[in-house]
Amino acid sequence: MLNENTTHHHEDQPETGGDPSVLRMIPDWTDANTAAFQKEIMSFRHGLAETGLFTDEALIDLLERHPTEKLDVCTMSDPDHPVYPNKFRTGDFRDVSGKVLLEAVKAGCVWVNLREAMNVNPDYKIVLDEMYGSLSKKTGNLTFNPKGGILISSPVAKVPYHFDKTETILWHVRGKKRMYIYPLTQKFISDTAYENTITNYMSDDLPYDASFDAHAEAIDIPEGAALMWPLNSPHRVDNRTFCVSVTTEYSTRESAMKNAAMVTNATLRHHLGLKPSYEKDGNLTRKVKSVAGRVLRKTPIVPDNAETDLVTFRIDETSDNYMTDVEPFPRTF
Ligand SMILES: [Fe+2]
Repeated sequence: MLNENTTHHHEDQPETGGDPSVLRMIPDWTDANTAAFQKEIMSFRHGLAETGLFTDEALIDLLERHPTEKLDVCTMSDPDHPVYPNKFRTGDFRDVSGKVLLEAVKAGCVWVNLREAMNVNPDYKIVLDEMYGSLSKKTGNLTFNPKGGILISSPVAKVPYHFDKTETILWHVRGKKRMYIYPLTQKFISDTAYENTITNYMSDDLPYDASFDAHAEAIDIPEGAALMWPLNSPHRVDNRTFCVSVTTEYSTRESAMKNAAMVTNATLRHHLGLKPSYEKDGNLTRKVKSVAGRVLRKTPIVPDNAETDLVTFRIDETSDNYMTDVEPFPRTF
């Protein structure tokens, strides 16, 4: 299939269409994709599966060499767990083989997030460079600074309602998942909620109500498809099967300016009782607030309440659900 495309595009579009890495990574990219890039909900086909880096065997190998401090093994506990009902929990995986970890995910017990896996592992970095090199060639944007993680998640995994502070692309590789994307309006993501998330004034998630779903775009993402959406659009994901996907993020001048300005707005709201609105601010005000926000971030005015990550279970091959509770201890690995 890839070969067919190569020949076809080579004749039609000799300039960039024939570029081998573009054809490998984003084989069906069109001018319509370029026009919608970072502006609309949009999907395109990608060639990550063809790299061979996302098979069970490749992932088992990766799990055993990825730095432990960039590997998260998590679970959402049962509603009737005696100590941790409905809690997001961090697990200890240090004595466990990659094979067992993958089995635990497939059994529906945990999910695994390999943070920056596409950056720190040289064989995956080659692919990340190809992915973004191809996007650069097609969109004319040469300043990407992407980070890419790999998420290996179970059939029952859900990513709750949230937004991302930077541009994000979901490169879905294996399995079935449904994504819900919500409008970028105050009802779905208020300035206050945005500011709180940016500044840690509250550790709450983005407020969500099931009635929001009537306004969402629900998308079943096929294997081999990538999905992107306008910056900061709230979204959530429900898995249908075991899934493997890559999420990449990169900041832009727009996202950096907004995030810094939101720090200023949070400070005005909390310390001066004002009611700022990013939407209503003009471009100059946004710039001034953005400069101020970069300074405020370094002062004690903006709280830094990153919570200690407590480990409450370990992966245990001998247990039915691959998990055994442990006496909680702060994560040090
Ligand atoms: Fe996200």
